Amino acid sequence: MSDYEPKIVGFLCNWCSYAGADLAGVSRFQYPSNLRVIRVMCSGRVHPAHILEAFKNGADGVLIAGCHPPNDCHYISGNLKTQRRVALLKKVLKQLGLNDSRLHLEWVSAAEGDKFAKLVQDFTNKLKDMGQSPLGLDEIPVEAD
Ligand code: FES
Repeated sequence: MSDYEPKIVGFLCNWCSYAGADLAGVSRFQYPSNLRVIRVMCSGRVHPAHILEAFKNGADGVLIAGCHPPNDCHYISGNLKTQRRVALLKKVLKQLGLNDSRLHLEWVSAAEGDKFAKLVQDFTNKLKDMGQSPLGLDEIPVEAD
C-alpha cells in the first residue's frame, strides 16, 4: 500500500481558488501532484452529478475550492449554495459506502497560495491513510454484452 497514490479531482473556482493555486505555483510552494484541476467559474457551478461522476470514474477524493463566504463569491451566493450542497452530498456518499471525508470543501482566496499547497498536501495524506476508493473503476465488475 506504500506505493498507493490517490487520484484527486479538484474543482477550483476561477476567481479565488484557481488564482490561489496559481500563486502557489508562482511562489514555488511544494505540494503533491495527485490533484487534477478542473477550473470552473464558481464553486456553485459544480453540480452534484459532476462529483458523483468523478467518484464513479475512479477518483479517490474530490476537492472543491471557492471564494470565502459570505461575500467573496463573484456570483454573490454560489459559495453558500456549494456549502449546502456538499453537506447534503456527504450524506449521499455515506449511503454509497464512501467515507464522506473523501469530499472536501475549502475556501481559498487568490492571496492564499500557501494555504492551497497545505490543503493539497493534507488532503493527499488523508486519502493515503484511507486507501483506494471502493467505488473506483477497478472495483466495478464489467458485464459482457
Ligand atoms: Fe468563487 Fe463563486 S466565484 S465561489
